[in-house]
Amino acid sequence: MIDIEEFGIHEGISEIILTTLSQDGVPNAAPMGLHRRGNRLFARIYNSKTLDNILNRPTAAANIVDDPFLFVQSSLSDLEPERFELMEGFSVLKDALGWIVFDCSYKKGTNVTVVELSPIRGKINRTTIKPVYRGFNAVIEAAVHATRYVVLKEQKYLDYIRYYNTVVQKCGGTREKEAMRLLYELIGIQVK
Ligand SMILES: Cc1cc2nc3c(=O)[nH]c(=O)nc-3n(C[C@H](O)[C@H](O)[C@H](O)COP(=O)(O)O)c2cc1C
Repeated sequence: MIDIEEFGIHEGISEIILTTLSQDGVPNAAPMGLHRRGNRLFARIYNSKTLDNILNRPTAAANIVDDPFLFVQSSLSDLEPERFELMEGFSVLKDALGWIVFDCSYKKGTNVTVVELSPIRGKINRTTIKPVYRGFNAVIEAAVHATRYVVLKEQKYLDYIRYYNTVVQKCGGTREKEAMRLLYELIGIQVK
């Protein structure tokens, strides 16, 4: 039995990177919100590789990650295969602070599918003290808007990204600034 409190999964939404496997065993990673209401855990997943994988093979792992670069890279491109650790029937990220593997059940929706998550295994690799860090949070917000921008191409998302970039430039460290450079590159926007 897994105590998800030990993994820091709180009421509301935690941003994690969900890893899944395709039917052919190719691992995939994408940031997703892990919703918790009481003891119920679920994700709301739009049509994507992640959803296809879960529909074919209903297992997924929530990777708890503190690297902003990995969030940006996995949201807008495919991670290199060497970033994954493959185990029996599931894949996780080597650099995760910890992970929880879930059995998934779902009722397929047209746009969005609610995937119910039942924890079956978990591992904590590292624990760290984390002061509130605006630079990191701003990268995550920018990445959310970037994933919307690439689909909807609306100017408002670029405006949000620009705003969060000012926070990163003020409060972030090298890794956060690298993550923002990658984000702009992957959405095809040049920054002066
Ligand atoms: C922090 C963050 C949270 C996200 N949460 C979700 C989510 O809850 N559901 C969803 O469908 N997409 C979410 N996304 C967008 C997906 O990560 C994005 O669409 C991704 O490209 C899907 O990749 P895939 O096709 O490899 O599955 C989120 C993105 C970020 C950056």
